Amino acid sequence: MTQHLADALPTTTGTLPGWWRDAVIYQVYPRSFADSNGDGMGDLEGIRSRLPYLKELGVDAVWLSPFYASPQADAGYDVADYRAIDPMFGTLHDADAVIREAHELGLRIIVDLVPNHCSDQHEWFKQALREGPGSPLRERFHFRPGQGESGELPPNDWESIFGGPAWTRVADGEWYLHLFAPEQPDFNWEHPAVQDEFRSVLRFWLDLGVDGFRIDVAHGLVKAPGLPDLGRDEQLKLLGNQVLPFFDQDGVHEIYRTWRKVLDEYAGDRIGVAEAWTPSADRTALYLRPDELHQAFNFHYLTTGWDAPALRATIDESLDSMRTVGAPTTWVLSNHDVVRHRTRFGGLDRARAAALLMLALPGSAYVYQGEELGLPEVTDLPDEVRQDPSFFKENGQDGLRDGCRVPIPWSGDQAPYGFGTGGSWLPQPAEWAGLSVEAQTGDPASTLELYRSALRVRRAHPQLGAGDAVEWLPAPEGVLAFRRGDFVCTANTTGEPVRLPAPGTVLLTSGELAEPDVLPADTTVWWQG
Ligand code: NOJ
Repeated sequence: MTQHLADALPTTTGTLPGWWRDAVIYQVYPRSFADSNGDGMGDLEGIRSRLPYLKELGVDAVWLSPFYASPQADAGYDVADYRAIDPMFGTLHDADAVIREAHELGLRIIVDLVPNHCSDQHEWFKQALREGPGSPLRERFHFRPGQGESGELPPNDWESIFGGPAWTRVADGEWYLHLFAPEQPDFNWEHPAVQDEFRSVLRFWLDLGVDGFRIDVAHGLVKAPGLPDLGRDEQLKLLGNQVLPFFDQDGVHEIYRTWRKVLDEYAGDRIGVAEAWTPSADRTALYLRPDELHQAFNFHYLTTGWDAPALRATIDESLDSMRTVGAPTTWVLSNHDVVRHRTRFGGLDRARAAALLMLALPGSAYVYQGEELGLPEVTDLPDEVRQDPSFFKENGQDGLRDGCRVPIPWSGDQAPYGFGTGGSWLPQPAEWAGLSVEAQTGDPASTLELYRSALRVRRAHPQLGAGDAVEWLPAPEGVLAFRRGDFVCTANTTGEPVRLPAPGTVLLTSGELAEPDVLPADTTVWWQG
């Protein structure tokens, strides 16, 4: 058990108690981080062996995407056993070793929890299918008779996020709800057994020493009573824009209140992080009331373009909303579900500038594996290697999620670039030799060294992550300038250099600064002054 080690880690890094308030949290996507056994798939032992890299990078915590027993219909977000490790990732012993060694290095570990749905291979779902209609075991899921003369139509008009109806009919004629793939049946969170089971799962991992949970689809657990029709097509366009009968229902908050009590039973500041796509920062803040969760991903920031007025508006809105509940704002640019921000924003200069802007904001920041290497999205994967379930559905998500999940390059000039010894489950582009950790280490112009420096400076200036406000300074069009104590950040989001009097001495810059009074195009500078 590793709990005592977590307890020994510092609990306060900024001005308020709570290590998580200003933490930089690195997302590891286990399939694609490091492969220790040469099967082309990343694993826990690979992660363990690379923890010193993360320590040296300067992050505070690591969030691991799912490694649980799973048929991998949705890359592990279809969990068959919440207390077991999938053999392709290793064993429980390996998970314990990751947690223990991370703690020894002073890194915290956050694991992914997937409570909205499980796998159709989960024991409960298999039982529910076996027992048939009317069985109490079906009540742990959303089983319903169909509509139409012989029940041949789905019970309501909800669409799956991955495309197609959100319902699948089973052999005995009933339908079950799945907001994602058919292999991911939704739990019925009204059922006390579901509630008890997840409190028990939380305790299982807390006992093993984890420092927190990233809660998958945190906004989806509770469905509107009666599962009412939405009454319109093109439902995907509504996601995140409004409260829906299956998303962001007020009832979810009661669940997080009970979870908070469990987290608080444990010493060492264990946290819950909501993956909640809500219509507004204000609705996101509701998940972070003092008796609920600690952080939520700031998807409003992630979906804001490289545009100064839009960024400023999102930053202000985010800070204002989170301040009302006393929660830190978080910042995120990339993850395993979206096109990498280098490609989204249109180039490496912008990606580097965006990183320095994000890391200068008060609160906690998320870094997705490979963004510190400046990796672009892989946009030319052949169809036959794709695994994202949404790729295989018409009208689903854009189907581009494999392109941000390509295994990361560590070293050497031949694929798999030190990822492992047996290839990689998605092919890596030839250009990635020059982007490997080895190629970038020690090169002061590299993106890896930029991240390392930024995290070092952030650590040396705790005021960067602390607090809940920025003081905006006057700036020309397309430029953001703000002060945090004796620290100033200026970011030029335009494609042209902009004249701006130097507010102090340069601490760090995302691009070359020929003259201190000229902020180059697509460049962020950190100043002491
Ligand atoms: C959000 C996860 O990040 C994504 O990868 C997954 O497909 C869905 N939730 C369903 O679990």
